[in-house]
Amino acid sequence: MKREKFSSRLGFILISAGCAIGLGNVWRFPYIVGQYGGAAFVLIYLFFLVILGLPIMTMEFAVGRASQASAAISFDKLEPKGSKWHFYKWGAMAGNYLLMMFYTTIGGWMLIYCYKMLTGKFVGLDTAGVKETFNTMQGDPAQMVIAMVIVVIVCFCICGMGLQKGVEKITKFMMICLLILMAVLAINSVMLPDSGKGLSFYLKPDFAKLVENGLGEAIFAAMGQAFFTLSLGIGAIAVFGSYIKKDRSLTGEAIWVTVLDTSVAFIAGLIIFPACFSFDVPADSGPNLIFVTLPNVFNNMASGRIWGTLFFIFMLFAAMSTIVAVFENIISFAMDLTGCSRKKAVIGNLIAIIILSLPCTLGFNILSSFQPLGAGTNVLSLEDFLVSNNLLPIGSLVYLLFCTSRYGWGWKNFCAEADAGKGIKFPKWARVYVSFVLPLIVLFIFVQGYISMFA
Ligand code: PHE
Repeated sequence: MKREKFSSRLGFILISAGCAIGLGNVWRFPYIVGQYGGAAFVLIYLFFLVILGLPIMTMEFAVGRASQASAAISFDKLEPKGSKWHFYKWGAMAGNYLLMMFYTTIGGWMLIYCYKMLTGKFVGLDTAGVKETFNTMQGDPAQMVIAMVIVVIVCFCICGMGLQKGVEKITKFMMICLLILMAVLAINSVMLPDSGKGLSFYLKPDFAKLVENGLGEAIFAAMGQAFFTLSLGIGAIAVFGSYIKKDRSLTGEAIWVTVLDTSVAFIAGLIIFPACFSFDVPADSGPNLIFVTLPNVFNNMASGRIWGTLFFIFMLFAAMSTIVAVFENIISFAMDLTGCSRKKAVIGNLIAIIILSLPCTLGFNILSSFQPLGAGTNVLSLEDFLVSNNLLPIGSLVYLLFCTSRYGWGWKNFCAEADAGKGIKFPKWARVYVSFVLPLIVLFIFVQGYISMFA
């Protein structure tokens, strides 16, 4: 069977960016910045995006394009005879499924919040009332399961329509809407009275505060966020390399995707911080920032119901563009491994993902006594830990070593693939750095993840 291809370069870049741009940008990034004290943290994060994220993304694209396959068989195709790199296919596949097992639940929350904002459910509530709404939602399995199932069905239907007619066309549309919405929301936020306070918190580096909150921890958080936001380590990005021709070099494409991803994260902060400070609500509330803090902000804002609805549509599109991209990867695994049709892969995985997503959804209510990582944790914490602290760094290490070691695919093959086509070439002087220093950094992140989780 001939492999499907994207119809345009813009499609490829927007879909890869859509995979990268997700809850990591619009939800996780702002609250981590809030916790670690603003701009000084943002600088560290940008540094790691460039030295850590960019090279690994280029490698994933290269493996995907050279093998013309998903991570399910890409290593089998490229590895030297007799080597065992292909074992990592199980890690990559597990990573994509595990990620979706919790991502779909939060996607469902975004849908619920769009609906609540649109129908004015927050109007007139005080701070305690808004918090209560969030708690009630988490305590209501039916509501959350329905929302999750809707998100899963819609996203699989998009994939079922085909690579060009479904994934490419609809993700392109969602991404363009997302960029427009984002611009409108950011302008509105910055024009609010007293937005200056929020802007200076976000944009003026305060290194004293950074040290006070623990520099080591901030560096670790910045590194982890760099992997997560760029979708690295589980072949989620690699698959899109398999859908393009060799007319553009891959370093340049990776730069585009990283710039888009970073811009969206950055502007999400521009939307959130001025609004919080303008209405005097604390911006360091952690994961609850979006769901508990922001509805209060919209309640205080003129025409807040409209702005709130637009904001949660923005969030929903960010989440859905990632879900569609990862579903496409999961479908590609099935097609590559079994040779089945797209339709069969969609139907089988639709059922599988709905069932697999249930534990996370129910982890907030029926299964809430299951606290796998200590008091206050739940199924989501466990799944997030397995993906973010294990599979993403280990997988990134696998891609790195595979592309640089002579026991793997090797530096020469990697460079030839990455550099094929017009555009920026992978810097050859960086060889020692990516072969020896970068693997150590990644290993450090992995070990540190365990230390900070269990010590
Ligand atoms: N990058 C996505 C986000 O920011 C999450 C993701 C991680 C997607 C790993 C695929 C693989 O939300």
